[in-house]
Amino acid sequence: MSNTSCDELNREDLAQCAAIIDETELFRDYGTTGQAITKLLEKALSDPSSDLLALRTGTGLAGFAWVLRNGAFGRSAYLRLIAVSSVSRGHGYGSRLLAGIEAKHLLPHGLFLLTTETNTGARRFYETSGYGLLGIIPGYVKPGLNECIYYKAYKAQALTR
Ligand SMILES: CC(C)(COP(=O)(O)OP(=O)(O)OC[C@H]1O[C@@H](n2cnc3c(N)ncnc32)[C@H](O)[C@@H]1OP(=O)(O)O)[C@@H](O)C(=O)NCCC(=O)NCCS
Repeated sequence: MSNTSCDELNREDLAQCAAIIDETELFRDYGTTGQAITKLLEKALSDPSSDLLALRTGTGLAGFAWVLRNGAFGRSAYLRLIAVSSVSRGHGYGSRLLAGIEAKHLLPHGLFLLTTETNTGARRFYETSGYGLLGIIPGYVKPGLNECIYYKAYKAQALTR
């Protein structure tokens, strides 16, 4: 985990983002391809309502995330997409990326996200990171797949005097 940085995603990263999507079974279940994501991310790069983050290691892009700044109810940030490359999963990179996202977007009105009900790995990842399950929306994104809606609020640190 040493030698990692969380910074802005840029156009040169898009091919690696597409490869991460294409190697991930979850995205196939939604019919999402690397090519389709590349188009969406290209647009998002020039959209001020989006924030794209990259988690880099000494060897390249380990993961990326897409946040819509006021994507939940026009009020809170919404984590639209997060993915870590298959070879890098389970080594803390996702947590590092999520910490980078929260540092920018937890204030002022917290962070919402959706994840598939059957994606137990991701659900555990969010729950251990302090996200609370608010409910389940049946077939919201894709018929037959239920979405869990999670939320984490910003909690002010105790002020030291
Ligand atoms: C979900 C994802 C971003 C997590 O990133 P990661 O680098 O694998 O996560 P971390 O290594 O930082 O794990 C942090 C914690 O999450 C939990 N976790 C992560 N992946 C898990 C898995 N597959 N099964 C069970 N728990 C898991 C663990 O509790 C872990 O804590 P631990 O280290 O004490 O065991 C990554 O696994 C991924 O890209 N998955 C495929 C795409 C996906 O599901 N995206 C989310 C869609 S909403």
